[in-house]
Amino acid sequence: MTTLATHPRLVSLEGGEGAGKSTVLEALRIALGADGDEVVCTREPGGTPLAEMIRALLLDPAHEPASPETELLLMFAARAQHVRETILPALERGAWVLCDRFTDSSFAYQGGGRGLDAGFIDELERRVVGLRPGLTLLLDLPVAQGRARALGRDGRPDRIEAEQDAFFERVRATFRARAAAEPGRFRIIDASQTADRVAAEAVAQMQAWRNPA
Ligand SMILES: Nc1ncnc2c1ncn2[C@@H]1O[C@H](COP(=O)(O)OP(=O)(O)O)[C@@H](O)[C@H]1O
Ligand SMILES: [Mg+2]
Repeated sequence: MTTLATHPRLVSLEGGEGAGKSTVLEALRIALGADGDEVVCTREPGGTPLAEMIRALLLDPAHEPASPETELLLMFAARAQHVRETILPALERGAWVLCDRFTDSSFAYQGGGRGLDAGFIDELERRVVGLRPGLTLLLDLPVAQGRARALGRDGRPDRIEAEQDAFFERVRATFRARAAAEPGRFRIIDASQTADRVAAEAVAQMQAWRNPA
């Protein structure tokens, strides 16, 4: 695989920790399944048993910190498995695939956040992933608000959540720049609204994308 195909039934949710991705995913799942279509909900890193083991390794605070390069390659190792074992088979049988994070997160966290070269990540995307979502919903939220929500949910931060605000500001800026560069694929949603409003707007944006006027 050295090219990137856009798959119209692959929808990804992106945004910082605590932006509300998992909350919105459920609303999208219900909306997409309303016509009886199969909907596969999955997440990254993860989505297969092996990829979930890689996720656990990545987020575990018990070992020494992964170097940025190690983190990037483990993310893509997990994604390679996820695409082949879960995402492509589902798309091939006609299901919708809703993914909580996808390759844009690698550009944002390992690229923007850790400072790794975006050209290298582009190359990995083309060679290892080979596909892009038809629609990506970016849940955009000020860093402090996301941090407060994630802490309220988990209590104890994982390896990536433990980063400084400057790291998350770079992550947010990278997501926003990618959305601005690809307006056909991205929709930006103001995630500082109430959970109900964020979900309603995400569903409305998705329906407008599915059935353009
Ligand atoms: N719009 C919202 N306003 C306030 N709290 C929210 C909102 N969306 C989600 N939450 C809460 O914030 C926490 C993080 O939400 P979650 O969906 O897990 O975010 P993510 O998956 O993006 O990390 C959860 O406790 C969730 O209930
Ligand atoms: Mg989540």
